[in-house]
Amino acid sequence: MQEQKYKTINLATASEKIKFNEIENSSELRPLFHITPPHGLLNDPNGFCFFNNQFHLFYQWFPFGTYHGMKHWMHLTSSDLLNWQEHGSKITPTENYESHGAYSGGALVENNNAYLFYTGNIKNESGRDANQCLALLDETNTVTKYSANPIVKSVPQGYTGHVRDPKIVKHNDNYYMLLGAQREADLSGVIIIYQSKDILNWEFKGELNLQCDDAFLTGYMFECPDLLRVDGHDVLIFSPQGTEADGSRFHNRFNVIYCLGTINFEQLTFKIEHWDELDRGFDFYAPQTMANTPNEQTLIAWAGTDEDLPSRQFGWVNCLTLPRTLSVINHRLYQQPKILESDSFNKISFKNNNNNFPINLEQLSFLLEIENTDKNINISLSTKNKHLTFSILDREIYLDRSQYNHHPDDWQYGNIRHHKIDYDIENIKIVCDQSILEIYLNHGRDVFTCLFFPENEEHKLNISREEDTEMDIKLNYLTI
Ligand code: FRU
Repeated sequence: MQEQKYKTINLATASEKIKFNEIENSSELRPLFHITPPHGLLNDPNGFCFFNNQFHLFYQWFPFGTYHGMKHWMHLTSSDLLNWQEHGSKITPTENYESHGAYSGGALVENNNAYLFYTGNIKNESGRDANQCLALLDETNTVTKYSANPIVKSVPQGYTGHVRDPKIVKHNDNYYMLLGAQREADLSGVIIIYQSKDILNWEFKGELNLQCDDAFLTGYMFECPDLLRVDGHDVLIFSPQGTEADGSRFHNRFNVIYCLGTINFEQLTFKIEHWDELDRGFDFYAPQTMANTPNEQTLIAWAGTDEDLPSRQFGWVNCLTLPRTLSVINHRLYQQPKILESDSFNKISFKNNNNNFPINLEQLSFLLEIENTDKNINISLSTKNKHLTFSILDREIYLDRSQYNHHPDDWQYGNIRHHKIDYDIENIKIVCDQSILEIYLNHGRDVFTCLFFPENEEHKLNISREEDTEMDIKLNYLTI
């Protein structure tokens, strides 16, 4: 197992390749339009950018098993964020400076080049070390590692070996590298920053000081920092580990937060005006936003944090969320699924004024949109024996997947998510794709991501509410 765990795809045997092929062709539980690994395990999205007139996306990939092992960067391209073409591993950890995996990182598009930054993960007798590395993506989709790697060797003084996930932003004539890190003194999570004038030579500047009037969260490690501008606001996103549950927030093993405010690169401060959990469901982690976006700011995330999922039996685990367009409205970050504006759906529309509205589903990949919805509503997705429900009652939201529990009995994070809102629901958009649901309320003001693993049987949607008002319901089956 150990030998297999740190093996690169270059060393796959003929029989492993045959097995890979079988897994790749198995469709059970596999989403149709969410990105899944052909075989093995997927986790964070990486190197997301627009370059050479295409969207490029990579993800953390362990090809040999459905557990966390030697991480490669799988490469995909797309012209519409809807159809993705897979190109195989483009950063394969073959060098000493990345001996235990090419970990996460972001892209920077500059001077007609796409620079890919990543962490060379090292495990040794004394524990863990990390090198920050660079690779170049060119117009032919070739990725070449920088010959003078690593660009940052090891970690700065005062931090443990948990320093990773470089994300580069440009400000004035300087480049800044944000990294997730852990302080050595008290093992607490932090974001640290390096600075460069030329993208190749980096100098350690210090910690990003998160300034917040209220109590701010703590954790033992902050992963995958990201920084961008959305509608005139600086937005800082990161994935803290070890954050305690707080009211209806942070009930997952690992969670994601966003902060709206103002970055000051000279003083290394981020003044927080508002912060919150980014997704209110069960399965959302390590999001990354697109570098060099041609239009709106777009984010994509790993729909998960687990590896012990039922699709394991078919040789693959995990998927990414849909790409989501970001906006800031009234000091809140909104997310809208990007790809569903496409025409490639068959639309079925209903005007409904019954208070109980059942729909027999033809398939489990669909988009359900409800406009003029009642304030109180219950939507359930059911088979003969099981149901999963999403309900809103008096501004309290419940997402209940208890009957689809895929966790061991001692799972401590529960199968119900609850959130109290301070606004009325007007519209609901639910994207379902075989084994993932993404639920968007009021144009993405609140979003719930939820994996579920149904049996291969008939499914019904049932929409019910108290009153007989007219509600617009659109159901679009995915045909691609
Ligand atoms: C987040 C993460 C990153 C790391 C990568 C390894 O899920 O732990 O911090 O770079 O996954 O696959």
